[in-house]
Amino acid sequence: MCGIVGYIGYRNVSNFLLEGLHRLEYRGYDSAGIAVANGADITIRKKAGRVQELSSLVDECPVEGTVGVGHTRWATHGEPSDANSHPHSGGNGEIVLVHNGVIENYSALRSQLQQLGYTFQSETDSEVVAHLLAHSLFEQVKLGCEPSETDTCLKAVEVALKKLKGAYGIAVLFRDCPGVLIAARNGSPLVLGIGDGEYFIASDASPLVGYTDEVVYLADHEIAILTETGMDLLHRDSGRQTPSIQVLDQVSTDIELGDFEHFMLKEIHEQPTTIENAMRGRLDFDAATAIFGGLNMTLQQLRTVDRIVLTACGTSWHAALVGEYLIEEFARIPVEVEYASELRYRNPPMSDRTMVFAITQSGETADTLAALRECKRKGHSTLALCNVVGSTIAREADGGVYLHAGPEIGVASTKAFTSQVTVLTLLALYFGRMRHMSYQAGSSIIRKLKEIPEKVEQTLNCDAAVKEIAQKYYGMNNFLYLGRLHNFPVALEGALKLKEISYVHAEGYPAAEMKHGPLALIDEQTPSLFVVPKCGIYPKVISNLEEVKARGGPVIAIACEGDDRVAELADDVIYVPDVDECLQPLVTSVPLQLLAYHIALLRNCNVDRPRNLAKSVTVE
Ligand code: AGP
Ligand code: GLU
Repeated sequence: MCGIVGYIGYRNVSNFLLEGLHRLEYRGYDSAGIAVANGADITIRKKAGRVQELSSLVDECPVEGTVGVGHTRWATHGEPSDANSHPHSGGNGEIVLVHNGVIENYSALRSQLQQLGYTFQSETDSEVVAHLLAHSLFEQVKLGCEPSETDTCLKAVEVALKKLKGAYGIAVLFRDCPGVLIAARNGSPLVLGIGDGEYFIASDASPLVGYTDEVVYLADHEIAILTETGMDLLHRDSGRQTPSIQVLDQVSTDIELGDFEHFMLKEIHEQPTTIENAMRGRLDFDAATAIFGGLNMTLQQLRTVDRIVLTACGTSWHAALVGEYLIEEFARIPVEVEYASELRYRNPPMSDRTMVFAITQSGETADTLAALRECKRKGHSTLALCNVVGSTIAREADGGVYLHAGPEIGVASTKAFTSQVTVLTLLALYFGRMRHMSYQAGSSIIRKLKEIPEKVEQTLNCDAAVKEIAQKYYGMNNFLYLGRLHNFPVALEGALKLKEISYVHAEGYPAAEMKHGPLALIDEQTPSLFVVPKCGIYPKVISNLEEVKARGGPVIAIACEGDDRVAELADDVIYVPDVDECLQPLVTSVPLQLLAYHIALLRNCNVDRPRNLAKSVTVE
């Protein structure tokens, strides 16, 4: 996955490209590069490392031109290095391109091209596309076509794309036809921006903010041919398309750190507000239910749903697990939680009345998108629970619910998780109230939910205590995170947070499963973090905690304020306010986010940009 930008028009292009890459850096930050065409030649500046380093390079060696492309990379093929950075040139520099995605048949194509005499400078699959395009252009010229003609370039692209297997979003410059920029997609997102005498390309709409609010989302197998004076859209099968121009409204570039040292910390602290935003306008106190405007299904259709499949990846998958417990509890509808990467190939039996919900912060996760498409193809109603407005999944689902959490920049998802859990709680209530749940029960949930932002605000006061605990444990290399029922997904999520930003091994487990194996891991160097707020099975979780203590393992507990029993048993306690059992994940997850944050800082890790990861996983 990576971020792509492109421009053709009248401006000197470097500023737009670099600024756009900054905004897309959440998609990858292994390397960055730009290529600028100035009429005679195409100049490339590229470098391993962050966009900031590329900006410094461009400051030292400026490039001028009014057509260009840029790329910020998350490496799939070939290590992060200068040579593997995009843009890549094809042939003898006749073609320069940036690519997002994975070319599955790159190895065979690379051998064929090498036999034809093409020399490779990188280990990437993307360079194969560059040479393939150059070769395709060469074939067109051999047939008598002019390399300076737009039609020749287009034909070369069309022929080359037919040979690719896998996912791509590409933006291509042509040395001998400098007045044209071609973009194409299959599987990786691309959006086109329409200005006055200028056109933009980007992986999502954020680089376009401030430049234009008219956009066209490219569909799979579409090619866009952009010149200073016009735009043409062609579909592989259905030919010329009339662009469907949409007006950008809610895209925000609100990506300032403010008083916070890191985006992750800022986003953790935003949670009282983001949870409130997820509920805003969705609480119906009179009918003791939730209100959803965008499900696009009639009450009748919703009532006939007999099974719900929640599909997602990573943190969103953990939120789905909380959703499963709540929907089954409130609405008595059977729920399956599926890893999207499995569901896309698994083909489980699903009745006609199964509703599929894709849960995703970014709305661009390749596996989640593929699972959604697979279910849609089979005729199921597909809905999306999504944060990024206008993202691919939000657009492709039949209906859905936005989180309204604002941009989440930290790679470790925090506020999106609690917003997802909030919306899933509302959905469970909604489905419950249209089935067996009483007015009184519905009303009580709404009242308690309304208090949650304040409870989360109080929970954030545990920061100093968490920091001290982090000091004590940050040198340890293995952690167990344990919880039961609603707090089991919280344990999984806490462990994921620690793994991804501090590179410490952590396992999330249902606390009672310890005795079936993981208990063997317990020793003085392996802390167990128990999520043990007051709940219906509190004594059972306490027994599990005692089992760990009896074997000499240090215990950190997340417990309700005033819990003396836990204070006696655990080595360290982080207190959270007491809230209704079904709403506990919204508060118990917060100290775990803070703990991961502080441990990562103490281990000198890059909290917002952890190694090997990217915010949005747009490759399979
Ligand atoms: C969360 O901290 C992760 N970085 C990751 O697991 C993430 O939740 C996952 O990639 C899914 O992303 P999405 O919600 O944007 O689909
Ligand atoms: N596969 C390409 C590479 O490794 C593109 C990766 C991406 O989409 O970030 O360079």
